[in-house]
Amino acid sequence: MLLTPIKPKAVLALNLTPSFLKYTSVTARLGLNNTKRSYTTSENQRSNTQQDNVKYTHFGFQNIPETYKEKLVKNVFSNVASKYDVMNDVMSAGIHRLWKDHFIRKMAPVPGTRLLDMAGGTGDIAERFLDYTKRKHNDTTSKVHLVDINPEMLEEGKKRFMGSQFYSNDQIKFGLGNAENLDFIEPNTYDVYTIAFGIRNCTHIDAVVREAYRVLKPGGCFMCLEFSKVDTPFISELYNVFSFNIIPELGRLIANDGDSYKYLVESIRKFPSQEDFASIIRDSGFTTFGSGYENLSFGIAAIHTGYKL
Ligand SMILES: C[S@@+](CC[C@H](N)C(=O)[O-])C[C@H]1O[C@@H](n2cnc3c(N)ncnc32)[C@H](O)[C@@H]1O
Repeated sequence: MLLTPIKPKAVLALNLTPSFLKYTSVTARLGLNNTKRSYTTSENQRSNTQQDNVKYTHFGFQNIPETYKEKLVKNVFSNVASKYDVMNDVMSAGIHRLWKDHFIRKMAPVPGTRLLDMAGGTGDIAERFLDYTKRKHNDTTSKVHLVDINPEMLEEGKKRFMGSQFYSNDQIKFGLGNAENLDFIEPNTYDVYTIAFGIRNCTHIDAVVREAYRVLKPGGCFMCLEFSKVDTPFISELYNVFSFNIIPELGRLIANDGDSYKYLVESIRKFPSQEDFASIIRDSGFTTFGSGYENLSFGIAAIHTGYKL
């Protein structure tokens, strides 16, 4: 049954805890206790509905007031940060490494490239980028600015680079920030903007893409690697069984947090299709070529590319 989402004020006043806040640490952070009643909403319920001036969005399959999403997402990644890399390897049997390698080969950075790696987390993209330019061009002048909203994920990223040649060469710097608002970055600053498995966690993906456009130099390139829609029915069924049943269980066993991995799986299903995301990219001013995207592994993931021309 679909129930009307409770207004945030009512939630606070009645000390009710909707089901999206059942994650205990999130509940504590938001100052909400005691699960007396929960509401559920269908995956099909429209997000961004406006009721009494409160905007709603999705958090996995839950419909929540927009203002809560950033905090809930932060909490997910704070919970999993220390196990994030090992979970990626286990969940994907290492395939995420092949996708990321391909992503960097497709970028084919030249010496002196300025990269903004948004939602860069533990640094998988940043490290591959710097490795590539060093290996391919013996380049030590390319630089990455790795930005993430989550301090714990950034800490894991810093640990990876501390003591490395890239750190001592000043080729990597870290920043705390929200992809939706990059006021701390001047327009026309970067040659390439990457966001890998980050954009689906943002509340307003159109704002993220608009900010990417603003901070890229003319001629700059936007590249997004994200989970997407599987294009083969048989694979889609297998993938659904695996992701809804096995991934949360692996999250529980390895990261001691099945709920966060349940959210991550659900958030994939809420992300726009390849075509719809390509339209968002074009609507933000980017030029795309062909479809604007490349499917990886039957569309389990896709790379979207746009140019600021
Ligand atoms: C699944 S991880 C991906 C990390 C890394 N890019 C990779 O490919 O392994 C998603 C990252 O997005 C970050 N994130 C979520 N919402 C964000 C936002 N609004 N702005 C910046 N980073 C965000 C999270 O903190 C997390 O580190």
